[in-house]
Amino acid sequence: MRLQGKVAIVTGAAQGIGRGSAIQFAKEGAKVTVADIQADQGQETVRLIESKGGEAIFVQTDVSKEDNVRNMVEKTVERWGRVDILFNNAGYAAVKLVEDTTEAEWDHLMAVNLKSIFFGVKYVVPLMRKQGGGAILNMGSISGLTGQMRTPGYVASKGAVVMLTKSLALDYGCDNIRVNCVCPGITDTPALRKHIDAAADPEALIKERLTRVPLGRFLTPEDIGKAAVYLVSDESDGITGIAHIVDGGLLAAAEYSSTWLPKKPEGEKQ
Ligand SMILES: NC(=O)c1ccc[n+]([C@@H]2O[C@H](COP(=O)([O-])OP(=O)(O)OC[C@H]3O[C@@H](n4cnc5c(N)ncnc54)[C@H](O)[C@@H]3O)[C@@H](O)[C@H]2O)c1
Repeated sequence: MRLQGKVAIVTGAAQGIGRGSAIQFAKEGAKVTVADIQADQGQETVRLIESKGGEAIFVQTDVSKEDNVRNMVEKTVERWGRVDILFNNAGYAAVKLVEDTTEAEWDHLMAVNLKSIFFGVKYVVPLMRKQGGGAILNMGSISGLTGQMRTPGYVASKGAVVMLTKSLALDYGCDNIRVNCVCPGITDTPALRKHIDAAADPEALIKERLTRVPLGRFLTPEDIGKAAVYLVSDESDGITGIAHIVDGGLLAAAEYSSTWLPKKPEGEKQ
């Protein structure tokens, strides 16, 4: 088990990628603090971990609030005495043009997607330094590496996550604290389903989005969780300051559409 004996905090772990990652961390032997604003679903993640023999606690946390994040770290230390891993995963995408966005909406998006990382790092770094090291993983996105329509605040926040990650890696490498970020492509989570279900023709939207993914499928929370395990485990102990892309090949292309592929011979799967 690759995270045996480690204590991990995963934010936004009540569903989606955060839940997938919390479950993978526990499967690899970590004790996990499930932190989320949603209590019922967060408790359910704890139950899912415990049902497989793992150990977890839920701490209700709004990551945009400094006192909540401090409490999340304090509760973890009260329970397990240390913090080895922090996965700053909580976040959301606002689909709105700049001209339709209020100042309060902009500030909230930045607080959840970006300021939350500042808070988390502020409270775990002193502990990790005393312990002799640690691993911090931030949630970026392919939308932090290239532009995307109708989501200017989201793209700006994720681009900032990538640069904050590099900067933190430089500041804390001397303390043996590694800081990386993971940049998923289109991942099948409740957030994605909400977006798809709101479309006039959800099936057509799924089909169209998949034409742009060379692997021909959406990523799963488990796919991202497995990459997260690698980035916080000793297997990646020479790696810090990177943006690790998990996107089924989407960003490899300047232009790509599966509709341009040659037709396969009869009998073979298209
Ligand atoms: N799904 C994708 O395609 C995709 C792609 C790239 C990056 N991401 C990023 O991955 C992360 C998780 O996305 P997801 O698709 O699993 O979303 P999701 O909405 O399914 O899950 C997000 C979780 O974060 C929690 N959360 C939201 N605001 C919070 C707050 N203020 N405090 C604490 N918890 C809060 C929610 O309650 C929820 O449990 C996000 O940062 C997102 O931007 C997702």
